[in-house]
Order: sequence, then C-alpha cells, then structure tokens
Amino acid sequence: MRHSTHPILGQKPGTSGLRKKTRVFMTPGYLENFVQATFDAIGGVAGKTLVLGGDGRYFGAEAAQVILKMAAANGAARAIVGQGAWLSTPAASHLIRLRGADGGLILSASHNPGGPDEDFGVKYNIANGGPAPEAVTEAIFAATLEISEYRKANAPDINLGAVGEQHLAGMVVEVVDPVAAYADLMEVLFDFKMLRSLFHAGFTARIDSMNAITGPYAVEIFERRLGAAPGTVVHATPLPDFGGMHPDPNPTWAHELMAAMMGPQAPDFGAASDGDGDRNMILGRGVYVSPSDSLAVLAAEARCAPGYAHGLMGVARSMPTSAAVDRVAQALCIPCYETPTGWKFFGNLLDAGRVTLCGEESFGTGSDHVREKDGLWAVLMWLSILAVTGRSVAEVLADHWARFGRTYYSRHDYEALPVALAETIMADLRARLAGLAGQAAAGLVVIRADEFAYTDPVDGSVSTGQGLRIFFEGGARAVLRLSGTGTEGATLRLYLERYVPGPEGLAQDPQAALAPIIDAVEALAGICQRSGRAGPDVVT
Ligand code: G1P
Ligand code: ZN
Repeated sequence: MRHSTHPILGQKPGTSGLRKKTRVFMTPGYLENFVQATFDAIGGVAGKTLVLGGDGRYFGAEAAQVILKMAAANGAARAIVGQGAWLSTPAASHLIRLRGADGGLILSASHNPGGPDEDFGVKYNIANGGPAPEAVTEAIFAATLEISEYRKANAPDINLGAVGEQHLAGMVVEVVDPVAAYADLMEVLFDFKMLRSLFHAGFTARIDSMNAITGPYAVEIFERRLGAAPGTVVHATPLPDFGGMHPDPNPTWAHELMAAMMGPQAPDFGAASDGDGDRNMILGRGVYVSPSDSLAVLAAEARCAPGYAHGLMGVARSMPTSAAVDRVAQALCIPCYETPTGWKFFGNLLDAGRVTLCGEESFGTGSDHVREKDGLWAVLMWLSILAVTGRSVAEVLADHWARFGRTYYSRHDYEALPVALAETIMADLRARLAGLAGQAAAGLVVIRADEFAYTDPVDGSVSTGQGLRIFFEGGARAVLRLSGTGTEGATLRLYLERYVPGPEGLAQDPQAALAPIIDAVEALAGICQRSGRAGPDVVT
C-alpha cells in the first residue's frame, strides 16, 4: 500500500545510523519515512535479501514489524530476522556476510540508554556487513528531503518468536536463532578446547551484559560452550529499558563491574559490553585496561588465537586512539593506518586485506572476521592470551609496557554543551592552530598543531575536519573534536596522551601523568573557563 507523506526535514544518519529520542521514532510516519528513504537511496530493495535485528531495546520489535511490511511492499525477496528481533551488531554483520545478503538494518542506539523516554536508532549496513559509507548516508539524507510516499504492506504481524520461514505479502521472512551462527564463528577463530581447560582449572570471570543484547550470546559462549560457572554472565537478560542501566562499558557507567573487579572478591577477569554488543571494556583483578592499550596488546599477542596464528596483515586505529598500537606495528614490521573516528573508515582497509585488526579508543576493537567492532570477540582474544601465556591481566599489561613503553591515555567528555558554545570553542582554536607551533601553554611547548584530514588509501576519498590535534614536546598530544553521535546539545571530546618509554614511571595514575597536558589545553582552549564547568562529565 502506498502512503503519501512529507519530507522528514533532512534527518541525517551519522557514523552510527540515525539516532533520536524513541518518541521521535514513534511519531506516526517517522520510522517509515526514514526506512523508505534508505530503500530509495540504495536503489530499492526489489528482489533483495535483508538482515534485520537489534539490541532488544524498547520499540525494537514494533519497528521490526514495520520494516518487514515495508520491505515486502518494496519487493524484497527475503528478510532474515533474529528471533524476537534480536541480533547484536557483530552478529548482524556476520549474518549479512554468511548469507550473502544485500544489506541489513540494525535497530539500536548502541550504548545510549533505552526506553520510551530514551533513545532509539536505525542503522543500514551494506553487503560487506559494515556500516554504510558516507556516500550512502549522504544519499539517504538527500532522499529524506524529497520523499513523498512510502510503501507498507497491509498484512498481519509476523510471529517473531518462532524460528522458521513465514510469508509476508510475497516476501519470505526467515526467523533465525540470533546466537548460533555467531557462536559458531567464534569456535572457528578461537581454541574453545583450550579456553574450556582454562575455566575447568578454576579461572573466574565476570561478564557484564548490562541487561542488553550480549546476554544470550555470552551465556551460550562462556557458560554453555566454555563451561564457565553459571552466573559468570551478569545482567544477562536483554530488557527493553536495560533495567535502567546505561549500557556503555566504561568505568563511569559500568561502575558495578568496576567495584567488583577492584574489590577483595574480584575474579580473575572482567568485561562489559554495550547495548548492541560491539563495544567492550576489559578488566583484570584490580586493573583497568585502557582501550588503546587493549588494541596494542591484542595486536602484539594475536598469535595466541588460532584465527590469527598466521600473523596480521596490518593494523588500523582511529586518529584519537593512542599510538600504543603503532609501536607494536613497528616491531612486527606491519603497516599501521590512522583513520578518522568511526568504524566505517576501517571497512575499505579490511575489504582490501590491508589490515587484520583495528580499534578505537571508545572501547571498540575488532578484526576482519566481521565489518563491525565486536565486544565478545575482544573478550575471547584476551582469554586466549591469558590461557596461552598463563599470566594475569596485570602481568600481561606490565610485560607489554616494559617491552614497548607506556602511553598514558585519557578521554575527557564535556556533555550537553550549548551547540553554539562548543562550536565557538572549536572555531577559535581552529583559527589559531597554525600559529601555535613554538608557543608555550602552561609551560608546555607546542611542536605543531593541525586539523586531521584523511585520504582513504583504497578509494582515494577525502574526509576533512576530523579533529584538532596539538602535538607537544616530549611525545604528548591532545585532540579536540565534537561528537557525532550525541542526541542532546554538543559533546566536546578531549583526548589526551603521553608516551613514556621504558619501565620508568609505569605505576603512575594516568590523570596525574596527563596533568600538564590538561593544563596546557585549558590554557589554549579554555573549555572549563568558557563553559563554566568545573571539569569533564565523563573521564575514561
Ligand atoms: C563515538 C566514538 C567513536 C565510535 C562511535 C560509534 O562517536 O567516539 O569512536 O565509532 O561513537 O560507536 P562520537 O560520539 O565521538 O562521534
Ligand atoms: Zn555499540
């Protein structure tokens, strides 16, 4: 059935799809407009196969019914849907690739809270299993400006609880177990027999799924297939509002896990995932692993997992991620690429076979097994390293720093700033960048400063305006950029790093080690002074 409609005023999907307040998505016609614009932008879906699923958040199952009826009315041949409309983001990426689908829609707002008053999102992934590149998101944006009708079948809802094939207005709807294919892929990449022995020998872990999508995956993989004690996975049931948790795996939001890992009864290993399962935080007994360090350790020790026993083609990190992995790449004599923020920039490098591992400071690590970051994969990588080396997380980190030196790292987020203020802070600093070289700020001398731009080595596309960088004397760096994923005001992110070669000063607290850079940036950009804030809202 054709429904005439009006443009939705240029809703632009960002690096992670379109994210809005759930009630906005529930406005009659809103979701329909965005989905039709997506279908139009990719040349229609007639005869195509699509994968569909999400992180279990509020409105996900209802949205899936709408999308299925629209896919049918637009002539799609087949939709492969996770049972209950559940699919983690890495599992969706895998399913698109495994089944040779033309693309997929992921219903999630990632690590943002869920519920009627929180966030919802829709993301389109392409046939390689990865997020739509900029050309596609631009085309979707353009389509939202012109749309005049959407097509939706007038048919009853599909039973998303029953695995098997059903029919919807000429389209086959195949409801699949959301976990099985993904868990099978993990069995190919990792030595499950060795990991089973690890748990059998008494190794203890706490895997916090934060009431979001990784619960069923983690229970199947760790408790059922690897024999970890029942209860190893906590907050294991996906809930529409994540039980009120903010499913963002960082020390601030995963504070229950942090407390457990820093306490006297801490297990050997701890990890948390985000809402849709692509992010991870890694902890050991009494120790937190910064995501930049995690990427570097995974690169250095990748051979511990059979899927990477042959070595790595290369590695990639987003620009604001620390240079810790660069030093590993240098030692391994493999290339290291520096890309703008956002997983989509890794896609071409992975497709071209130039890199095997990649990661971001924002708790994302992954490899060429899918085209998304993958939280549980990172957990299995760490467990493999611990099993092969027989070391604790703290010992693995200490060894790594002793070998490569330590890069102190932290990200400071100033959230919900007035948009105009955040843009002015950035614009003022941008205007002064060129003149900063040679100047001292709070006693620290600037070597050079620039705005990061990236030329994709595979397709030559250029992305400008990807963050302001200030390099200081002595191997220190600060980066400032505005978030592209927030739903309220502007979020200014300040990324700080400082390299200390060799074992000296290794036990220092990162905030203390970074204090001179924090002071220098405040002197240059005046974030606290101009915003009236006493400090950042979130420190990771
Ligand atoms: C944030 C992270 C970025 C990540 C993205 C999607 O984007 O910083 O690394 O790829 O979420 O998970 P930002 O809000 O900074 O634009
Ligand atoms: Zn996510």
